[in-house]
Amino acid sequence: MESYSPGLENVIACETSISYLDTGNELILLRGYDLMELARKAVFMDVAGLLLDGSLPDAGERAALMDQVRGASSMEKEVLHLLSFLPKRPSMMDVLRTGISALAGFDPDLDDRTEEGNRRKAIALLARVPQLCAGGYRMAHGLEPLAPRPELSYAANFLYMMTGRTPSELEERLFDQSLIAYSEHELPNSTFAARVIASTQSDMYGALAGAAASLKGTLHGGANEAVMELLLSAGTEAGMETLIRGKLAAKERIMGFGHRVYMRKPDPRALLLKEALTELSAVRGDARLLSMCVAGETIMHEEKGLHPNLDYYAAPVYHLLGIPTALFTPVFLAARTAGICAHVMEQHAHNRLFRPRVRYIGPRGLRLAEDGGKEGVLRDGD
Ligand code: SDX
Repeated sequence: MESYSPGLENVIACETSISYLDTGNELILLRGYDLMELARKAVFMDVAGLLLDGSLPDAGERAALMDQVRGASSMEKEVLHLLSFLPKRPSMMDVLRTGISALAGFDPDLDDRTEEGNRRKAIALLARVPQLCAGGYRMAHGLEPLAPRPELSYAANFLYMMTGRTPSELEERLFDQSLIAYSEHELPNSTFAARVIASTQSDMYGALAGAAASLKGTLHGGANEAVMELLLSAGTEAGMETLIRGKLAAKERIMGFGHRVYMRKPDPRALLLKEALTELSAVRGDARLLSMCVAGETIMHEEKGLHPNLDYYAAPVYHLLGIPTALFTPVFLAARTAGICAHVMEQHAHNRLFRPRVRYIGPRGLRLAEDGGKEGVLRDGD
């Protein structure tokens, strides 16, 4: 029997050519490219093509991919209509998970797990998950969903559907950069959940719905919303210091800090989003959120030796872009749909059913009494 590692910490669970956290070289590899270089020089559609097709698309291939996404954008009206019946939920991730499951019911080739069939599903999900996010949120607030605008880029259209405003060039670039930062990150809990589900030969939609359920948790994707709540309740730099020190004294976790893989090393993506926050704050002439974040970062490094992860700086960036806090984690899932679909395709193509074992620590040797009851326990009427 292999050794046991709680939470599968440092356990290799699969082989992949999709991505790798090369922490020794402070690199996040996406099919051999440095994610940080992709974020600075490419656009999200390039990275989606790289993840799904295994090579970086040229300009023509990227345009063709965007046309395929636009072509898959029309969604059965019943899907959004179904979401309108959901009771007002605290988490938009519950709504998103339901929407993804509903999409499955309308896919005529639901169980086509060939590369072509899965790629078609991935394109459809890239096109529709942003609509489920934005439309689900608007309906929950008594507003009609905004139809996608095909003349806009993927990032600009997503931002428009959430905010109702056409983003500026800077807003579009910074949001697109954040989608790349969120697009893929090796085998986090949500991607692992998707691969586990796909390994039974279940479909892409079910795998993504399972990943959505995982990502909702505050130890994972839900952290970006929790960071925004922390910033809003802190209000000032001094408030941030008081809140964080109080939480640390109460042995509470501070959302947006720490990482299972990076541990006490920096998350390279956090630097990217910090730069975005700095740029946005300068343009807006308001550095309050930036100074609060820097104050929190300083305290956490001094007190716990911990660095911020990408969620810590993504939250204020999304706030300044006008994205509702309840959509921060859904945006994370929408971007990660590219990576998760790539992992599902890889799992279906080279499958081995996930079925780990346990280290049993329960009782042994218990016997039933003659009358079938628990041994040694008096039964009624005895
Ligand atoms: C994401 O896996 C991925 O790649 C995920 C992700 C992705 O792109 O998919 O990167 C996205 O999920 C980022 C993480 C977002 N979550 C949060 O920000 C929630 C807060 N972070 C923590 O709960 C924690 O850091 C985890 C869950 C992220 C990692 O926890 P581990 O690896 O289980 O670490 P641990 O709980 O064993 O903590 C080790 C030590 C402990 O101190 P001691 O008890 O040894 O003294 O570090 C402390 C912890 O108390 N610690 C924290 C802390 N995180 C760790 N203390 C205060 N606040 C924190 N946030």
